[in-house]
Amino acid sequence: MQDAIDALRGRGLSRIESAATADELEAARIDLLGRKGEVTALLRGLKDVPADERPAAGAALNRLKLELTDAFAARERDLRGAGEAVTGLDLTLPGAAPVPLGTAHPLLTVLEEICDIFYGLGYDRGDGPEVELDYYNFTALNFPDDHPARDIQDTFFLSDKTLLRTQTSPVQVRVMEQVTPPLAYVFPGRVYRNENADASHSSEFFQIEGLCVDREISLVDLRQTVDAFVERFFGAGFETRFRPHFFPFTEPSVEVDMQCVKCGGKGCGVCGQTGWLEIMGAGMVHPRVFAAAGYDEDAYTGFAFGMGIDRIAMLKYGVDDIRLLYENDLRFLNQFRGVL
Ligand code: DAH
Repeated sequence: MQDAIDALRGRGLSRIESAATADELEAARIDLLGRKGEVTALLRGLKDVPADERPAAGAALNRLKLELTDAFAARERDLRGAGEAVTGLDLTLPGAAPVPLGTAHPLLTVLEEICDIFYGLGYDRGDGPEVELDYYNFTALNFPDDHPARDIQDTFFLSDKTLLRTQTSPVQVRVMEQVTPPLAYVFPGRVYRNENADASHSSEFFQIEGLCVDREISLVDLRQTVDAFVERFFGAGFETRFRPHFFPFTEPSVEVDMQCVKCGGKGCGVCGQTGWLEIMGAGMVHPRVFAAAGYDEDAYTGFAFGMGIDRIAMLKYGVDDIRLLYENDLRFLNQFRGVL
């Protein structure tokens, strides 16, 4: 019996040792320790062993069984470890590559910077819907029914009465409906126009609207507000000028220019050799707009302005194509890492 046990130990251990896969190891386990396996066969044979040798033989068989069981467990661990090494996968390890952090979009940064300047001048911030009523986008702002801006060419109409707002000016009326003067607000937001995209046009862009209403607001207040903004945003030393213009919702209306941020007024490619850059439309709120908002048009005066945030951002960072602001190309956006 002892010889048979020793022989089986040698054979069994080397079979376990040489099992190259989990399947081979399982086959060996069945052959050795299974119900019809070799160890079981020897155990069954115990009854034929002379009674005085039986206890020793039984103990030896149990030791063999334990030894083989341990050997199986050890081989199983080895095989599993080798498998991991092959696939290189250990899901419990922390990630090795650095997780890329996002960065604020330059448009948003400029938007917040502009708002901060106006907070410093005592302004509040308001908001209105991007899906707007024709009434607020045009009618209440004194656009005649046949005004070309209502043309399907420029406006994304959603229905007879609703559209994607083409400007942030409708928020003026919405806020005046709710707030009694004196008031000073900025309304930043996204606007839409049905235009073909090129380096200076996009069918979506951002504006920031300003509105200041009280009993004795004049064009001088507008002028000083614009100068304070330009100085705080672009730095000291840039002159501004008002050019007469027309907007339906302001009277008088102006376009505001500042000296070119690139050449300081000498003339360059950025300012088309004029030395001046247009930065906003503005004017004194038209009495009809006050009337639409339910204000006493004889009691109040106010100024309003509207500025393209994209254009300001492009001037600030020297970006020459507005489409770069909307494509979300990481090669572009990553240049603002740490800058913003
Ligand atoms: N809403 C005008 C536009 O999109 C910009 C504008 C001009 C806004 C004059 C104003 C303003 O508030 O007074 O072209």
